[in-house]
Amino acid sequence: MNEPRIIVALDYPGAQSALQFVNRVEPRACRLKVGQELFTAAGPQLIEQLAQRGFDVFLDLKFHDIPHTVAQACKAASKLGVWMLSVHALGGRVMLAAAREALQGFKQRPRLVAVTVLTSIKNEELGEIGVSGKLNEEVRLLAGLAHDSGLDGVVCSAQEAPDLRKQFGRKFCLVTPGIRSARVAEDDQQRVTTPRRAMENGADYLVIGRPITQAQDPLKALQEINQEIAKTGKQK
Ligand code: C5P
Repeated sequence: MNEPRIIVALDYPGAQSALQFVNRVEPRACRLKVGQELFTAAGPQLIEQLAQRGFDVFLDLKFHDIPHTVAQACKAASKLGVWMLSVHALGGRVMLAAAREALQGFKQRPRLVAVTVLTSIKNEELGEIGVSGKLNEEVRLLAGLAHDSGLDGVVCSAQEAPDLRKQFGRKFCLVTPGIRSARVAEDDQQRVTTPRRAMENGADYLVIGRPITQAQDPLKALQEINQEIAKTGKQK
C-alpha cells in the first residue's frame, strides 16, 4: 500500500465533529492535521485518541515565540506522539535550532517543519508586514534558514515547490496547503494549486481542509483526490 500523501486538516470546532469524520476514514487513506482551532477546543486528549487509532498526526500550532518557550512546546508535543509538528520560520535561526534540538532524544522523533509564508498571503500584502522583497524570494530565504537549522522541511505553497526542491534536494520535506481542485472555491487561500499539479511540482504531502471536510460527501472527496494523486505516478 502506498504511503498516504494527503493530510486532512481537521479544522472542526470540537472533538465530536472531528471524530465524526475520523470514524469514517482509515489511516491508510490519509494523515490528520490538528490545528489551532481544534487543539484549543479539544486539547491533547484528542491527539492521543487519533494516534491510538493508528493515524499519523500533524500538530500544526505554528509555534513562534522565544527559543526556550518554543523548545519546551516542541518537547510537550513530542510526548503526545505526534508524527509532525510546525514552527514559524520567522522565529529566526536561534528559535529554529532550539526547536530542532528539543526533539533530540525522543525515540520517535516528530518531523519538524517550518511555515515559510502563509498560503493566504499574496505578493501585494508583503509590504504591509515589512517584507520588501518578492514573495518567492522570501519563501526561499526562510526555507534556507529552516534547512540550515536542521529542520526536516517546510510548509509552502505548491507553486514554490519546484524551486525549493531544486534548491534543497530530494530529502527536504515539502508540505503544501492551498490545494484546490479546478472546480472548487478558493476560500481565503491565495496561492492555490490542484492536487495533481502539487504532486508534479514535487510536494511530499498535501494539506487539504475544506475541499474534503466541507464536501457533501467528505469520504468521496478524499477518495477522488487520492485517485487523482495515484494517476500522477508520484506515490511513494
Ligand atoms: O481548508 P484549507 O484546505 O484551506 O485548509 C488549509 C489548512 O492548512 C488550514 O488548516 C491552515 O491552517 C493550514 N495552513 C495553510 N497555510 C500555511 C500553513 C498551514 O493554509 N502556510
